[in-house]
Amino acid sequence: MKKTLNVGLIGYNFMGRAHTHGLKNLYMMADDLQVTPRLHTICGRNEGEVERVAGKLGWEKWSTSWESVVDDPEIDIIDIASPGNTHCEIAVAAAQKGKHILCEKPLATTLGEAEQMLAAVESGGAMHLVNFNYRRVPAVMLAKRLIEEGRLGAIISFKGFYQQDWTLDDELPFIWRFDKAVAGAGSMADKGSHIIDLARYLIGEFEEVSAAMEIFVKERPIAGGGQKRVVTTDDAAVFTARFACGALGVFETNRMSSGRKNGLWFEVNGTEGSVRFELERLNELQVYSRRDPEDCQGFRQVLVTQASHPYIRYWWPPGHLIGWEHTFTHQFYELFRAIETGQLPSPNFRDGLVCQKVIEAINQAAVEKRWVTIDR
Ligand SMILES: NC(=O)c1ccc[n+]([C@@H]2O[C@H](COP(=O)([O-])OP(=O)(O)OC[C@H]3O[C@@H](n4cnc5c(N)ncnc54)[C@H](O)[C@@H]3O)[C@@H](O)[C@H]2O)c1
Repeated sequence: MKKTLNVGLIGYNFMGRAHTHGLKNLYMMADDLQVTPRLHTICGRNEGEVERVAGKLGWEKWSTSWESVVDDPEIDIIDIASPGNTHCEIAVAAAQKGKHILCEKPLATTLGEAEQMLAAVESGGAMHLVNFNYRRVPAVMLAKRLIEEGRLGAIISFKGFYQQDWTLDDELPFIWRFDKAVAGAGSMADKGSHIIDLARYLIGEFEEVSAAMEIFVKERPIAGGGQKRVVTTDDAAVFTARFACGALGVFETNRMSSGRKNGLWFEVNGTEGSVRFELERLNELQVYSRRDPEDCQGFRQVLVTQASHPYIRYWWPPGHLIGWEHTFTHQFYELFRAIETGQLPSPNFRDGLVCQKVIEAINQAAVEKRWVTIDR
């Protein structure tokens, strides 16, 4: 008989829906797990909406108070899918109640908050995971396997880009993502936290960074009113890095890149070969090996849908593709397996904290126009 773990989800909008979908599909991996989720309570600020969404998505209860969800003794896992400025208070309270926590990225809006959150989960003793879900794309995990097995040789260079174009319209109304106090930072922390985490996951720790950031649309209309509000988060950032492994890195995060919808891509170059990945073609990894015969050298497109590839055995036969939403199911699988085994999963709050240190260093480098060493 499997043990049921009750989930309390904070936030019912974009990520709330993606997390619900991820949780519901966890049954595909059920053969491996002795614990199973129950969609206990969903929480948001708008009473009418949260009640409607609870019914639509299949949550048993709904609430407009995250405090009451955290306090509910029936709930085992708090899933934080609300804006960045809410993460710290909710996570610290949940940790004090001994709840397991999945928290959206970036972990916090400041380094101080991230430190508080890590201290709380470490003294609470429960499991914690940050939703850097792109670690859970099978093609990304294959890239990591190739790097770890030395098949790219010594790593020379990492190029990481995360580009979207949803803020190009300067009449787009002001939302929380344009407010530094709520979001922490703009494209650099929002998109950047994903690509920073992927760089850490694939080739290891950042040593130092230099950077520039820009706000292209300085103020935006307030929805429903004639007034405008000043934007305090960056639209775009570029940064360069040195890594502990000796590699150099070049990055761009941008939410005004015309034509780019969810354009996360990276390339890793080593002395023996390279890999290239694009999120919008997430079932594929481009692999180049210098060991191939010279007359046939070139990037090969590997379709990462074989049962031998990470997670694929839970899904479909070869060539039957998976999508963006599967990364959420994979993340929940890691959390539930961690709860079952008592082994801390990754990326956990410590990874979230290190990512936050890199974010703060990039911010400092851009403001002070100099290289900044990351304090690890
Ligand atoms: N992993 C990813 O791919 C990914 C993608 C998008 C967003 N995110 C992250 O997910 C988080 C949420 O982003 P989103 O795009 O879903 O935002 P959103 O604006 O679509 O939804 C935010 C939700 O949080 C709720 N909320 C806000 N303040 C609250 C409070 N005090 N108490 C209870 N509920 C509250 C709102 O009611 C809403 O349901 C952010 O941290 C963001 O960076 C992650």
